[in-house]
Amino acid sequence: MEKPFRLGSLVGQEGVSVVAPTSSLFASHIGIFGNTGSGKSNTLCKFYTDCFDRMREAGSLDSGKGQFIFIDFNGEYTSSDVLCPEKKVYELDTAAKAGKQKVPVPDDFYFDLETWAILTQATEKTQRPFLRACLRTARKIVDAHNSVAYLEKMMRSFLEGYFGHERVFAEQRDDFARCMAFVVDKDNLRDSEDKVRETVEDIEIFAGTATPILRIGNAYGNSAAEVESNVFSAFNTLPKKLRDLVEDLPSIVEFCARFLFLQRWRSGSIAREHISSLIPRLENQMKEARKLYETTPGGKLLSADEPVKVFSLLDANLDQKKLVPLIIAKYVYREQRSRGRSEQDSSVHLIVDEAHNILSYDSQRESESWRDYRLETFEEIVKEGRKFGMYLTVSSQRPSDISPTIISQMHNYFIHRLVNDDDLRAVGKAVSFIDHATSSMIPVLPQGACIASGTAIPYPTQVQVDKMPTIKQPHSYDRDLATAWGF
Ligand SMILES: Nc1ncnc2c1ncn2[C@@H]1O[C@H](COP(=O)(O)OP(=O)(O)OP(=O)(O)O)[C@@H](O)[C@H]1O
Ligand SMILES: [Mg+2]
Repeated sequence: MEKPFRLGSLVGQEGVSVVAPTSSLFASHIGIFGNTGSGKSNTLCKFYTDCFDRMREAGSLDSGKGQFIFIDFNGEYTSSDVLCPEKKVYELDTAAKAGKQKVPVPDDFYFDLETWAILTQATEKTQRPFLRACLRTARKIVDAHNSVAYLEKMMRSFLEGYFGHERVFAEQRDDFARCMAFVVDKDNLRDSEDKVRETVEDIEIFAGTATPILRIGNAYGNSAAEVESNVFSAFNTLPKKLRDLVEDLPSIVEFCARFLFLQRWRSGSIAREHISSLIPRLENQMKEARKLYETTPGGKLLSADEPVKVFSLLDANLDQKKLVPLIIAKYVYREQRSRGRSEQDSSVHLIVDEAHNILSYDSQRESESWRDYRLETFEEIVKEGRKFGMYLTVSSQRPSDISPTIISQMHNYFIHRLVNDDDLRAVGKAVSFIDHATSSMIPVLPQGACIASGTAIPYPTQVQVDKMPTIKQPHSYDRDLATAWGF
């Protein structure tokens, strides 16, 4: 027989336990709402701490069947006494101090068009198709039987291709240097971009004959092969690091972007100005990605040896605070969708405290494409996740800011003190079965008290959630100023 799960005691009656069936509570999307300081984080932490204690007792915590992923914006859940000792903490840091952890993403991460189109805000009509070609080319190089030989061949025919396009070469000189800087060995050359520029500086168009000729110093090229061997001979002798390049996924993608940019511009299939803004954005996002993500074969977001993961975004910059949860949610959902089909008893619980950070409609700072894609991803998890055993727990101060689709699809609600009319209305709309008398209590609930309602708690009930010892509480204590100031 299933042992019920204790939520707390009835408000005002300490001796009376409020319980819920464990399965209907945890196999559900849970929404915890309330103003700042009302006790949301403690409620969330208490439920999962008790859940882990019980799983440990039953020997199921380390089976990996149930996976728990916490998105922690403020580093509230990282200390060793919080949640459970088995948890693995990932402290993500965009300032990239040494020794910080990275999100384990699947190895196709760097080739994922959807992800990179969103991260780089690629325009739909021109930049996205170009990006697709870059990612495909990068993948072809990496997957080739002999990647270095493949890359060498690609570069040779590219250099030869300048024959007949001498004028374009003059225009492309700087971009050419930037592209080729990726293949020149930086360790042996202090500044590879300048070095490449130096070696191609002398190349010029010799227009004195009917057929155009590329010329460097005394070296001429009349045919494509001569162009490659004579004209680019200085460049060809620079030390290269093709092996390193093909083994570093972000670099190979950046290289392909620069390479295809030159190639397509030269052939006239793109207009320079349509694509040029995409490249620095791609390079910038690749730089951030290096600090935050680590590719692992098949992905490791769900792993039996780490059933509880906490991703702390305390040291992540504002943009990444919004992007990392999206990437995590996307890949966790993808992994669970394939796992959930074959393993009927598997589940993933994605727990997002302070969910307004990412599920808000109102965020002004960021591009709409990021926001829409993120909301769509989370909305899909809320709508479809249950079928695959993926459940979302969100907590938020501002339910009125959060996408109504997400709020209304929650199965179980824990509503702490809320005073703002808009928030009360948002919650009232989603939890229509709360009667008037109960809802009039919401603005006056004491700390740690909430109205529990949903599939696991059929009658809206006022619950005082048990207080945990201080060391087990999330790090969000009220400050005791009277003691601090010695009053
Ligand atoms: N169940 C409880 N019983 C007694 N006190 C509680 C309870 N839950 C929380 N508190 C107290 O309320 C304070 C704030 O709690 P908590 O950090 O959980 O609030 P919150 O709603 O998450 O706030 P925020 O939105 O700012 O993150 C804490 O200092 C905690 O000690
Ligand atoms: Mg909190």
